[in-house]
Amino acid sequence: MADRRPRRGRGPAEADPPGTALRRAALRLIDAVLRRGDPLDVAAHAATQGLAPVDRAFAIAIVSETLRWMGDIDALIDGATAQHLPEDVKSRAVLRIALAQLLVLKTPPHAVVATALPLVAGGPRRLVHAILSRAQQEEWQLPDAANLPETVAERWADQWGDAIVAEASTTWSAPPPIDLSFASEPGSEEWADAIALAPLHRRLPRGQAVEALPGFREGGWWVQDLAASLPARLLGAGEGRTILDLCAAPGGKTMQLAAAGWNVVAVDASAKRLARLSENLARTGLSAEVVQGDIRKWAPDAPVDAILLDAPCSATGIFRRHPDVLHRIEPRQIAEMAELQGELLERAASWLKPGGTLVYATCSLERAEGEDRIAAFLDRHAGWTIEAARIDELPAGISPDESGFIRTLPGMLAEAGGLDGFFVARLRAPSD
Ligand SMILES: C[S@@+](CC[C@H](N)C(=O)[O-])C[C@H]1O[C@@H](n2cnc3c(N)ncnc32)[C@H](O)[C@@H]1O
Repeated sequence: MADRRPRRGRGPAEADPPGTALRRAALRLIDAVLRRGDPLDVAAHAATQGLAPVDRAFAIAIVSETLRWMGDIDALIDGATAQHLPEDVKSRAVLRIALAQLLVLKTPPHAVVATALPLVAGGPRRLVHAILSRAQQEEWQLPDAANLPETVAERWADQWGDAIVAEASTTWSAPPPIDLSFASEPGSEEWADAIALAPLHRRLPRGQAVEALPGFREGGWWVQDLAASLPARLLGAGEGRTILDLCAAPGGKTMQLAAAGWNVVAVDASAKRLARLSENLARTGLSAEVVQGDIRKWAPDAPVDAILLDAPCSATGIFRRHPDVLHRIEPRQIAEMAELQGELLERAASWLKPGGTLVYATCSLERAEGEDRIAAFLDRHAGWTIEAARIDELPAGISPDESGFIRTLPGMLAEAGGLDGFFVARLRAPSD
């Protein structure tokens, strides 16, 4: 491991203990998320460079659990010292990641302490040591549910009520199960331990290596939360008709649509994400026309039968698997996203044949990116109608709201492992 080597200017006896380098990487990563506002999965590459894959995975797990439990961990830190540690001081960051290891990941205490102290060299080592000792002696525990950042709890209480905030805390407390979407209905033998919450879907317990699951190479399935599969379910069988899959990469919905018999034109602005879409198509043996284009400028040659617009959004609905989101996203970004979504929706709507279907979706728990966007669109476009989702199109336990939209919220299907937060609307263009 890279950190076995003594650091410049120190003797071998003072070398950092094994495992310190990955904790340093965890500190860099948490700083990128909290101070720079970078997405965890984007920042992870640079922050963990040079680490062995197993260390890299552990560094990311430390950061994910730190972010998930940060409010509760901070409360423990603040309750243990009269000395106020500012938000951005290194010793607080070191304590946060050390306590996430002790209290969530159950890392052996001696490894946690030995790797924490070098990180505060030249800083308040005694304070950090004293707090970590107290945590062990007093057998500190975290609450059953991880508290959401206060601003998020307030925003969601205003939009959805206190009960949903409580459900969101519960659902945030652990990573979600693994959902697979299938190109065709799988046989029951290989997937005997999986739950089928809908056709072409299987749910597995979390914490499994996806590459090791049966049939990964053959490509009969891909990872996709059940909620993320709902937009394409509302489009039904394609029967060779053409659909524009706008904002398509990395292609979860493209694969569903191709498997359902649509002639798919998959458009996305990001070359890097489209490369993943193409890899996904190659692995699953499904096909689509892949186009790189910014849909604020790009336009199709001819009107199409249907459109799926899976618009870029705050991603606050996928906070279970991306615990950085709730620490990064602020009202300003939600407002910027809402403006972009309005623009994309306007353009997309002009590319449909008369009477065609447009499905709009976002993985957001903000009305500004869902209900409000569609209300604003319908205000401007007489003749367009909402085509309500039907119960028979949806997995058991999910039903359309009073407007005919699908709005998945924390707490839905809780006993089966929950759902990501999504908004889905199906609109019908005027027929002449
Ligand atoms: C929610 S993700 C799409 C997920 C994808 N539909 C799936 O199911 O795997 C949003 C996508 O929008 C793309 N995007 C953002 N702005 C865009 C624009 N102006 N034109 C085209 N694509 C854009 C992003 O590159 C990103 O891949």
